[in-house]
Amino acid sequence: MANLRIALSPGDGIGPEIMDAVMHVFRQAGVHEHLEFVPVEIGERVFATDSRGMTDQAIATIESCGVLFKGPMGTPIGGGGKSINVTLRKMYSAFANVRHFQALPGVETVFSRAGVHVDFYIVRENVEDTYGGIEHRLTNDVIECKRLISAPGSDQVHRHAFELARRLGIGKVHCGHKANIMKMTDGLFLDRFREMAGEYPGIEIADVIIDALCMNLVLRPQIYRMIVLPNLQGDIVSDLAAGLVGGLGFAPSANIGRHMSIFEAVHGTAPDIAGKGVANPTSLLLSGLMMLRHVGMLTQAAVIENALILSLEQGMHTADFGSGREGAVGTEGYAEAIVRNLGKRPSDREATPVPEGQDRPTLVLGERPRANTLLRTFETVRSVFVGCDIYLDTTLSPPELAARLQAIATGTPFKLTMMSNRGTQVWPSGSVFTEIVDYYRVRFELRDMHDAASLGQGPILTLLRKIAEKFEITDFQPLKHFDGRPGYSLAQGQ
Ligand code: NAI
Repeated sequence: MANLRIALSPGDGIGPEIMDAVMHVFRQAGVHEHLEFVPVEIGERVFATDSRGMTDQAIATIESCGVLFKGPMGTPIGGGGKSINVTLRKMYSAFANVRHFQALPGVETVFSRAGVHVDFYIVRENVEDTYGGIEHRLTNDVIECKRLISAPGSDQVHRHAFELARRLGIGKVHCGHKANIMKMTDGLFLDRFREMAGEYPGIEIADVIIDALCMNLVLRPQIYRMIVLPNLQGDIVSDLAAGLVGGLGFAPSANIGRHMSIFEAVHGTAPDIAGKGVANPTSLLLSGLMMLRHVGMLTQAAVIENALILSLEQGMHTADFGSGREGAVGTEGYAEAIVRNLGKRPSDREATPVPEGQDRPTLVLGERPRANTLLRTFETVRSVFVGCDIYLDTTLSPPELAARLQAIATGTPFKLTMMSNRGTQVWPSGSVFTEIVDYYRVRFELRDMHDAASLGQGPILTLLRKIAEKFEITDFQPLKHFDGRPGYSLAQGQ
C-alpha cells in the first residue's frame, strides 16, 4: 500500500515519452510500492481553457500532495500566458532551486577528456530578484525593472544550502554575488550568507563575484562543491554549469519550499524531436532521484543511480550524446538498459553507496497554512524619514533642472543634495561627458537632520505636490535612516 502521494504531470512535447521511461524504471525498482503518483492536468494545452495553464483540480491535488514531479511544459509565445514553471515556484514559495552538475561516464566534455572530475551543486534563490517581474515604462525612453531582495528570503535559501551541504558532507560553500555594484541588495544577500554560516561551524565559506565565478567555472570547475546565488545570476550560471557536464539533458532540478517542492527536468519540450521516441530521459530521471531522496527513499535512489551509471559505463546513449558513437538507443531502450542493471554496481569510482532500510518515505507534510505567512528576519528597528528621492520625466539639462528645483525647495525643510541620471551623479558635480536620458533622480534631504525625529511623511508629500505643479513625477522613494544608518545608496560619483 503506497504511503505518500506525489502529483505527477508528464508535461508537453517529449515530456510524456521521458516520463514513461522514468516511471518504468521507478516501477521496476519498487518505488511504486511506497509512492502513489496522482496525475494532474497542467501544461500547454490547458492554457486554451485556463490562463494559468492548470486546472483548479490540478492545483487542489498538488497542494494536497506537497510534492510535484513534472516534465517540461511549453509556454504559449505571445498572449497573456505566463510560464507555468515560474508560476508554480512563486505561488508555492519554492524558494530554493537546487541543481546538481556531475560528470557522468560516457558523457564526453572538455573536462572529461582532460581527466577533470566536475561535481558541484548550485542553490539558487527562486522567488525574488528581478523575477518579481515588477516593470514599468517611466518616460518616453526609459523602462525599469525593480529588483527586490529580502533578508528572510535570503535566509531561507542560505539555510537550505547549508543544511544540504551538511547532509551531503560538502565542506565548503561559496556565495556568488555582485555586491561590489549592488551594495545594498546583493550586499544583503551576502551578509545573510555570512550570518547563516555562523550556525554551521563545520562548513567553510567563501564569496566570489559573479564574473570571476563564471571565469573560474570555465577554467577549473573542480574547485567548487556548492554555490549559492541570487535568482537571475543563478539562472544564468546554472545553464553555464549544465554546459560543463554535457548540456541540459544531464542537469536535474529540484525546487524546494517549506510546504511544496517541485522536481523537474531543466530542458524544454524539444518540439523538434517530440513523438519520435529518441529523447534522452536522464535529466528527468536524475530529478526523480532528487525527489526520492527528498521524500526519504534513499535506498531506491542509490540503486537506480548505480544502474544508470553502469548503463552509461557500458556505452548506452541516446542520439543527442555519445560523441557520434554507433548504437544510440531510443528513450524506451534507455530505460530498459537501466532496468536490466538494477541491483548491479558500476565501477568503484562511480558507485553510490546503497543505504539499507531507507526505502520508505519519511517526508512529513506541514499543515496547510490558513493565511499567508509573514517572514521576518530583523527585529523592528527605529526608522525616521530624512528626505526623498523623486524621479522626474524631463529633458532639462542638469544645471537648469537644479536651479528650478532649488527654487521650489526654498522655504521647505529640504534642500536639493544630489541629482543623478541612470545612477550617475550629474549635480552638484559631474561631467559633461556623462550622457543623459529623460529620467532623473533628484534627492532632497533635511536641511537640519535634528528635525528627522519629528518629520513624518507630511512635509515630504507637501514637497512632492509643489514639484508636481511644475514637473511630471514618475516615482518617488522616501529616504529613511534605520537605527541611525542611511537606508539608501549613493549615486556613482557621489
Ligand atoms: P528545448 O530544451 O526544448 O530544446 C533545445 C534543444 O535541445 C533542441 O534541439 C532539443 O531537441 C534538444 N533537447 C532538449 N531536451 C532534450 C532531451 N531530453 N533529449 C534530447 N534532446 C533534447 O528548448 P527550446 O526549444 O528553447 O524550448 C521549447 C519549449 O520548451 C518552449 O515552449 C519553452 O517554453 C519550453 N521550456 C520549458 C521548460 C520547462 O518546462 N522547465 C524549460 C525550457 C523551455
